[in-house]
Amino acid sequence: MTLPLDTMSAPAPPLAELAPWQAELGAQFPIVTGHPDVRYLDSSATAQKPQAVLDAVHRYLTTTNANAGRGTYPWANRTTEIVEQARERLKAFLRDPSPHRSTVHFTSGTTEGLRTVARDWLTSYLRDGDEIVVPFADHQANAVPWLEAQRLLAERGVRIAVREMPYETDSRDYDQEALARLVTARTRFVAATHVHHVYGADMNVHRIRAVVGPDVVVCLDAAQSIGHKPVDLGALDVDFAVFSGHKAMALPGVGAVWARGARGPAFEPGGWSGSPNTSGVVSLHAALDWLEDAGLERIEQWTVGLGVRLTDGLSRLGSYEVLGCPLSLTAESTVQRRQGIVTFRHRSIGSNDLGFILASHGLMVRADGHCQGHAGEKDSSVRVSLHVYNTPDDIDHLLEVLAGLDRES
Ligand code: ALA
Repeated sequence: MTLPLDTMSAPAPPLAELAPWQAELGAQFPIVTGHPDVRYLDSSATAQKPQAVLDAVHRYLTTTNANAGRGTYPWANRTTEIVEQARERLKAFLRDPSPHRSTVHFTSGTTEGLRTVARDWLTSYLRDGDEIVVPFADHQANAVPWLEAQRLLAERGVRIAVREMPYETDSRDYDQEALARLVTARTRFVAATHVHHVYGADMNVHRIRAVVGPDVVVCLDAAQSIGHKPVDLGALDVDFAVFSGHKAMALPGVGAVWARGARGPAFEPGGWSGSPNTSGVVSLHAALDWLEDAGLERIEQWTVGLGVRLTDGLSRLGSYEVLGCPLSLTAESTVQRRQGIVTFRHRSIGSNDLGFILASHGLMVRADGHCQGHAGEKDSSVRVSLHVYNTPDDIDHLLEVLAGLDRES
């Protein structure tokens, strides 16, 4: 396996150094402190909420709650302002390189956001004979909408070709050399994922622009990165970024599509949109403030460090196969590490059974196929996904239970 230089990183992040910082932050999650016997290890499915987010929603609902964009009285006007301010907050949070030209459209989450880009934008952008690239080993929310766009276009007599994003066999990163061979003058759109929801890999999306050239639209599924690591849209050089608020510590039911607005028609989602999820938007603004104050670089270091502790422990147990890049398993490895997501299988215990066993020890993980697209894993697996409220003790407890099952099998 050849690994590009930018996948090499420093030795394992220093958990001991960050421990006092983490202890202060971890204490701000009532659901975590209120359940000392539970280890919540499913933050890629949804993240827990700090008190500051709960307080912001409570404050809004008990002082200001009204509908946005339709009022003549103070609470309604203030709510409209709150929604507008949240758009600007999100742009700043994402280091938006063109905040005066870009737009933020609130959605219910990543799935709806990607579908909106597909139906309301891509279908007006593509012409007969155009080609798009789709990552079929990523989350199916980043595959199905593009196929739906292809079908909608076909109904209008516009035929587009869908090409499969190539992956490196071992690292599971996108294969940039194969992508370069796939791109033609008719390639108009590439769908990509920032952090893979099963392998935990940072997919090196910042390298895609150099491969596809300046005119191809790149749409980023940032569901597993926003709120988990610093996200700099300028450095990534993408045209759309889509995510779910609930994975970034906001309430469920709110998310956003950020659109740069530089290539193709303006992103103006159509349809009947109804009342906005104002308390969701309030929670998102509060969550972004909290995350930035906490420090996204340190959050990333912490969760990567916990992931290294887990993969290092798993690599010593004979019964487990860890999915994704095998070179990044040990604590000494300098290969790019998993972004707080570690997925594995037991060689003889089924993953669903393993999920139930872990639950009986208070370990909450996801155990299934993780909604991966058709080019993904064929068998189910157990996913551990971490956030700032997790501790080395959570990992050690998990490893202790897994070691018990290692000996038994
Ligand atoms: N998309 C979420 C996950 O990966 C639900 O678990």
